[in-house]
Amino acid sequence: VSNPFRYGEEVSGALFAGRSRELDVLVGRMSDGINVTVEAPRRYGKSSLMRVAVEQLAAQARDPWVVAVNLMRSSFPGQLASDLMQGVYRASCRGRRAKYRAEDFAKRFRVRPVVEIDPSGAPRLSMHPGTADPPKELRSVLEDTYHELAAAPGPSVLVLDEFQESTRLDPGLPQLLKALADAHGASVSLVLAGSHRHLMEMLTGGVGAPLHKMSEPLALGPVDHEEMVRFVRSRMAHGGRAITAEVADRIVTLCEPAPHDIQRLAYEAYRTGEPDAALSDTDVAVAMRESAYRTSAEYAGRIEALASGQRTLLSMLAEQPLTQPTSRDVVRHSGLANGSSVARALSLMAQRELVVQRDGAWRVSDPFLAEWLRR
Ligand SMILES: Nc1ncnc2c1ncn2[C@@H]1O[C@H](COP(=O)(O)OP(=O)(O)O)[C@@H](O)[C@H]1O
Ligand SMILES: [Mg+2]
Repeated sequence: VSNPFRYGEEVSGALFAGRSRELDVLVGRMSDGINVTVEAPRRYGKSSLMRVAVEQLAAQARDPWVVAVNLMRSSFPGQLASDLMQGVYRASCRGRRAKYRAEDFAKRFRVRPVVEIDPSGAPRLSMHPGTADPPKELRSVLEDTYHELAAAPGPSVLVLDEFQESTRLDPGLPQLLKALADAHGASVSLVLAGSHRHLMEMLTGGVGAPLHKMSEPLALGPVDHEEMVRFVRSRMAHGGRAITAEVADRIVTLCEPAPHDIQRLAYEAYRTGEPDAALSDTDVAVAMRESAYRTSAEYAGRIEALASGQRTLLSMLAEQPLTQPTSRDVVRHSGLANGSSVARALSLMAQRELVVQRDGAWRVSDPFLAEWLRR
């Protein structure tokens, strides 16, 4: 049996737990042409939620057109333009008996894409590699994409994942999207996603500010604790590994709140100990250590970049979350000069997503890094 847990890329189907309320909201907004911004820290399951919502929309609505791109995967404007063109073409093909010929479809874009046939025999549209002014042409492709989506017969959705990357490709993209969204009213649901921190930086920093008022925020919190415990138990059962409610609870408690971290520990725990024996607390502890050690090199790299006082402070947080980090005790133990140096160190480490303030306490944000630091 293959491992019943997955972590890393987005998940759907039986690998996706809970979130039914958020899914209802998102699918509803998508089919009603309402713009949404999905915000959460990394690894909370934004991309997964959007993927499952798109699948549900496809099952419910008649002929929805969905174009979904991840801006992190575009290293230059032409790549995003290619993804958009291919996305619109694929959306136009779905569920249609008489497919447009790719060459005919290509003519709908003012910047004419090249049509290639991929190894599976399917046509692929992409931006001509020799285009003169990629940012300008990306804008034109985005306008055409919006236009095609707005003219589609059923609900249509444009998903831009890792939206904070947009300004790296073209600082004018948020402004252009705002104009397009205004022009096309309720006929396209624009779904933007990114880490809360990054999006807030953009919105308050002014770059993405025009988008602020035109989309409804959907903030993803942690996945419900009980829901995750049930998920861990049922996936273990699916993989033929016995586990008690207590041990499943232990896995969730150790790694909350990011579902990514819970699946990571569950994945390792599943393959730890005797396959025929019920999973024990010891197996879970071993799995936590194993998994943390596997990423030693990455952790070492991130720690090396810190000054020694910051490192000490991080190790202190790994031992115990701190509610009063600028207290005299903490200052003395960390070797930092004073309370404001501690505050500065925390803010720098928060920027690098090493630490986070949650439920009133500062803590190491990655439970595996915390485990590794406690070694
Ligand atoms: N609803 C969920 N149920 C179970 N696991 C989830 C869920 N959402 C996310 N995950 C886990 O988190 C990982 C990262 O999810 P992803 O959607 O890529 O997060 P994000 O886009 O917020 O960074 C997935 O590979 C999966 O292991
Ligand atoms: Mg994501």
